[in-house]
Amino acid sequence: MKPYSPDEFSKTLWTAEQIQQRVRELSEQIRADYAEMEGEDAIVAVGLMRGAMPFMADLGRYMDIAMEYDLCWLSSYVNSDRPGEIELVQDVRTELEGRHVLVVEDIVDTGHTLKFTNELFGSRNPASLRTCCLLDKKPRREVEVPVEYVGFTMEEDEFVIGYGLDYAGRYRNLPYIGVLHPRMYQK
Ligand code: PRP
Repeated sequence: MKPYSPDEFSKTLWTAEQIQQRVRELSEQIRADYAEMEGEDAIVAVGLMRGAMPFMADLGRYMDIAMEYDLCWLSSYVNSDRPGEIELVQDVRTELEGRHVLVVEDIVDTGHTLKFTNELFGSRNPASLRTCCLLDKKPRREVEVPVEYVGFTMEEDEFVIGYGLDYAGRYRNLPYIGVLHPRMYQK
C-alpha cells in the first residue's frame, strides 16, 4: 500500500499541534459552561459519522467531566435533484429526553446537516442542545444554524482534508488539516 505523498496537498492549514491546542481550549470552555448547568447527568456527546470521530475522541480526552458517547450517521444527497436533503442512516441509541446533548461535528459547510440534527434531536426534548464544530466554513453557507463552539473559521472555500475530513474516503486519519491539491479531484 502506498503512503500519502506531500504533493497530494497544496498547503497545511492547521498542524497537529495547533489542532490539539485548540481542541484543548474548546474542552476547557465546554467544561466551564456545563459546570453551570442544572443536573447531575453526564453530557451526551453525539458525533456525526464519519467525520467527527477523531475530533470527538480528542475533545472527550481533554475533559474531566462525565461524558457519554453516541453516534449518528447521516448522509447528504450530493449531485442529486434533492439538494440540501439529509438521509438518516443510523440514529443514536441514547434516549435524549432531559439530557444535555452536545452535537460534535467536523465541519459546518452549507449548514443543512446541522439544521437536520437540530430539528431531529430538538424534537426529543433534551435539557439542552448545543453544537461543537471544529471548522466553520463560511463561504458556502445556505442555511443559518447556531454553532456554540467553533474551533477554526474558514473564510476561503477550500477543499480541506485530514483530522476526520475526507476526499473519497481518504485522508481522514491525518493528524493535521490541509488543502487537497486540485489535481487530485480535477481529472
Ligand atoms: C460532511 C461533514 C459534515 C457535513 C457538512 O459529511 O462531515 O457532516 O458534510 O456539510 P453541510 O454543512 O453542507 O451539511 P459527509 O456527508 O461528507 O459525510 P462524512 O462525515 O462521512 O464525511
